[in-house]
Amino acid sequence: MLSLVSEEIELYAEHHTRPEPEPLQNLMALTYENMECPQMLTGRLEGRMLKLLVQLVQPKLVVEVGTFTGYSALSMAEGLPEDGKLITCDNDPKAQAAAQSAFDASPYGHKIALRRGNAIDTIRNIEDPIDFSFIDADKVMYLEYYETLLAKTRPGGVILLDNMFQSGRVLHPEDQNAKAIHQLNEVICKDDRVENVLLTVRDGVQFVRKRG
Ligand SMILES: C[S@@+](CC[C@H](N)C(=O)[O-])C[C@H]1O[C@@H](n2cnc3c(N)ncnc32)[C@H](O)[C@@H]1O
Repeated sequence: MLSLVSEEIELYAEHHTRPEPEPLQNLMALTYENMECPQMLTGRLEGRMLKLLVQLVQPKLVVEVGTFTGYSALSMAEGLPEDGKLITCDNDPKAQAAAQSAFDASPYGHKIALRRGNAIDTIRNIEDPIDFSFIDADKVMYLEYYETLLAKTRPGGVILLDNMFQSGRVLHPEDQNAKAIHQLNEVICKDDRVENVLLTVRDGVQFVRKRG
């Protein structure tokens, strides 16, 4: 992923963000050792932001689209109240296995349910009202994930969407992913059902709140 802020400032921000707990640092190291595309993992800045936002919202149900090795799921689970639950989904067996063993080893793992298979099937099957979602999977499906999750989100609930800059390609979208994400940024900022801010955190994070 191309860094849109200077490497120096990115490092400064990381060094002035409280470190994640040691098990998450180890999970990141394991992911870099064992997985292709380890840079897909959200990392300290975004992970700590997810944890803080979950702490602020105090959700009963969090939904994550795109588990990978479980770093962002565990970050959010750390901020969840004791009776909170997180459903996360992934269709890659290698990522599922890595994530499940990280969840099993974590004091927060009991709050997480990993659903294996296509994300859209998982989220269509969720019946309880959703308080907080994090979308971080296949970009061409983001609009459908957004619409499906928004319909199930309680008024006042939050949806975060990652990689909304596509490494800057949204400025002149040519490939399928950049076109899909640019179109969704346009949809979200005109959507009367929500309020939003497109945060310049890492590769762009849409921060959306469903109007109450
Ligand atoms: C960017 S990674 C997620 C990173 C993770 N949130 C983290 O911070 O560690 C995207 C993940 O989405 C999964 N994925 C992609 N398309 C999917 C789909 N249609 N259904 C379920 N999972 C999918 C991939 O297997 C990959 O593990």
